[in-house]
Amino acid sequence: MWILAIIFFQCILNVFSEDLRSSLYFVNASVQEVVFASTTGTSVPCPAVGVPPASLRWYLATGEEIYDVPGIRHVHPNGTLQIFHFNPSSFSNLIHDNTYYCTAENPSGKIRSQDVHIKAVLREPYTVRVEDQKAMRGNVAVFKCIIPASVEAYITVVSWEKDTVSINVQTPRFLITSTGALYILDVQNEDGLYNYRCMTRHRYTGETRQSNSARLFVSDPTNSAPTILDGFERREVMTSHRVELPCKASGHPAPKYRWLKDNRPLEPDTRFRQSVTGLLIERAQSSDTGNYVCEVWNSYGNAEVVGRLQVKEPLKAVVSPKKVKGSVGSQVSLSCSVSGSEEYELSWYRNGEIIYPGNSVRMTGNNRENLVMAGMAKSDGGAYQCFARNGKMSTQDFVQVILEDGTPKIISSFSEKVFGTNEFVSLFCTVKGTPEPRVTWTLDDEPVIRDSRHRIGHYTNQEGHVVSHLNISQTTGPDGGVYRCICNNSAGAVSYQARINGLPAYDQ
Ligand SMILES: *[C@@H]1O[C@H](CO)[C@@H](O)[C@H](O)[C@H]1NC(C)=O
Ligand SMILES: *[C@@H]1O[C@H](CO)[C@@H](O)[C@H](O)[C@H]1NC(C)=O
Ligand SMILES: *[C@@H]1O[C@H](CO)[C@@H](O)[C@H](O)[C@H]1NC(C)=O
Ligand SMILES: *[C@@H]1O[C@H](CO)[C@@H](O)[C@H](O)[C@H]1NC(C)=O
Repeated sequence: MWILAIIFFQCILNVFSEDLRSSLYFVNASVQEVVFASTTGTSVPCPAVGVPPASLRWYLATGEEIYDVPGIRHVHPNGTLQIFHFNPSSFSNLIHDNTYYCTAENPSGKIRSQDVHIKAVLREPYTVRVEDQKAMRGNVAVFKCIIPASVEAYITVVSWEKDTVSINVQTPRFLITSTGALYILDVQNEDGLYNYRCMTRHRYTGETRQSNSARLFVSDPTNSAPTILDGFERREVMTSHRVELPCKASGHPAPKYRWLKDNRPLEPDTRFRQSVTGLLIERAQSSDTGNYVCEVWNSYGNAEVVGRLQVKEPLKAVVSPKKVKGSVGSQVSLSCSVSGSEEYELSWYRNGEIIYPGNSVRMTGNNRENLVMAGMAKSDGGAYQCFARNGKMSTQDFVQVILEDGTPKIISSFSEKVFGTNEFVSLFCTVKGTPEPRVTWTLDDEPVIRDSRHRIGHYTNQEGHVVSHLNISQTTGPDGGVYRCICNNSAGAVSYQARINGLPAYDQ
């Protein structure tokens, strides 16, 4: 009699919701600061977006979701944060001078934008001044537009006037430097006949100012040691930008100039140029950072300008790997490399929530730049972000971690069989899963031992499924029984079994 029994160890039906058409990304990830005039207000689009459209929310850096304040602050349905114009008396630090961020969420997960400092600038009374200058005929005169420190960051010198006529690049012997100073070269007696004034404009409020009138007192050249007219103490520039280090002196005879960097003569470089106003550096690079000395001398003495140039690189974070497809239960390791600064604070976020080290989460490296997570649960999938922060600067990068339910699933398998004596029987199980499952075989719950009659082998087919064979040659009666293939990986296990019977001798 044959016993045909087929028992399935039914695997869980996995509905896995990986949606490759869904993504999250950033526009304008470099915006760190939005400055606006209280008289105009501002609108800031959420720097994070998604496909399909993500739901966008704004928060204060403290994590508080922001609320609408009628007529003061509003978040539009398209995710644009609007701060309305306001009267200086309604200024509120919390609203008008604070750090915000925005989050974008869709089926891929949730990402959090860089921190955006939003700062209102109020109209405030200020004046700009110019001081009278003295110069020897044939020497140089330098006029500076003196701006109060409280507004200096917002004010630019837009022009200079000689009496009421605007000075421009066509005016011979006159030039305006990148820092807004007015130089008069090869001073002539007639230069003393005019009034000089600077005009400024507030970058955000648009307000313009006109300075007082200043005069130039021209004298005959007399032998004298150099006196510094224009110099610098500190300059900061972003890498690949142009920077001017001013160094100009009066003196008779005309002084000579020499530049030193970190106490050594400046090495020749096609990016460096000594101009009338000082040293011009094109496409600054971080190796240009250092202490600069401009030595000035003539036969009556010497003088120097000593200043420091700092070339800054933008803070940048890069998470690797770029794409992670893992399986539930597996370990996921991410690492974040930060450039642009030696000093920064690094934090990891999963779907917008900060990640803390714990039993299954380790953070290694000097700055916790490696994130190792064991036993990933399905809910751990989504967007992982690395944030680097240094003062007001912040940057981030993110990676989408897709977790498949990689539990092994049997695709096809052997069927119940009857064999005679001395036959060749081949059993197989085809299984899919991530990571690639291992297959073991049992007969009546005892492991099948490989020997000259029992061959076990496996290969991976074109679909990436594992095909495992158990081949038995020269069958005998005791080969009958319940055969089972057990397929397992870190995500789980599944097995299939069926009875294989030998034809009883009396049947033959
Ligand atoms: C990025 O931000 C700047 C400044 O806020 C804005 O002028 C520009 O249009 C923005 N670009 C995009 C693609 O949103
Ligand atoms: C969002 O909506 C506001 C109000 O309707 C509009 O002014 C703004 O231009 C929109 N911004 C974007 C980025 O679509
Ligand atoms: C088992 O037998 C099948 C069918 O003849 C063959 O394709 C397979 O390569 C064999 N595997 C081993 C490990 O002998
Ligand atoms: C898979 O099954 C084998 C044999 O039963 C067992 O030794 C092994 O530990 C299992 N592996 C996992 C990851 O469960």
